[in-house]
Amino acid sequence: MARQQLIAGNWKMNKTIEEALALGEGVAAGAGPYPAVEVAIFPTFVALPALAAMLADSTLKLGAQNAHPAESGAFTGEIALPMLVGLVDMVILGHSERRAIFGESSEFIGDKVRATLDKDLTTVLCVGEQLEDRNAGNTDAVVGAQVRDGLRAVAAAEMPGVILAYEPVWAIGTGLTASPEQADETIGTIRASLAELYDGDVADTVRILYGGSVNPGNWDEIARQENVDGALVGGASLKAEDFTELVRISAAL
Ligand code: 13P
Repeated sequence: MARQQLIAGNWKMNKTIEEALALGEGVAAGAGPYPAVEVAIFPTFVALPALAAMLADSTLKLGAQNAHPAESGAFTGEIALPMLVGLVDMVILGHSERRAIFGESSEFIGDKVRATLDKDLTTVLCVGEQLEDRNAGNTDAVVGAQVRDGLRAVAAAEMPGVILAYEPVWAIGTGLTASPEQADETIGTIRASLAELYDGDVADTVRILYGGSVNPGNWDEIARQENVDGALVGGASLKAEDFTELVRISAAL
């Protein structure tokens, strides 16, 4: 079964509200001619309301970069999922920057995945190995454990609400990408683990993105890999022309 390509832009901690509106406008205009590709942007929380209003009639999907699993409470600086319902379509969870810089455990990320699905929002669950893991031959074990922990409370029937993103940590923001073969192989291994955790149908239908220094110069070759269903893009998502060029490349596959 053909899986729809998704090009997702993780803007991280970039862009003021005004800049975010300009970028969102550029992305909507540039992606417009390629309706076969799903396109999503993940601005900062403060830019979400203005972008949601601007994009109300657009097919562009809007997402948050994180969320807390509790409904509300004494969690200074955090954003709860009920605050995002009606505002976003998707939530990125388990990004390596959350894991490494903010110390989020796989178990906590699993709680967030559960809470996000409870609100009928799509989860973009990120997994990926450190360079030491890859060099030690532990990529499959590390990534496999992140997938298992992240999805530990998710039933097969809920998997249409889950998108996975394989982002090797050593390729994020470094200009180093996984080779197309490495991306395809590890994403293929993730698919095989979904077949074990769930069934072949889940493994065949779940979309799995590649992320890590994707740009218009390297995307075509990675995008052509059988297991790769799209990209989660950091740096190149901050320029509308570069980002929408990725959409055009995916549309031409
Ligand atoms: P870069 O595209 O800047 O490497 O970032 C990838 C990423 O972390 C997307 O979530």
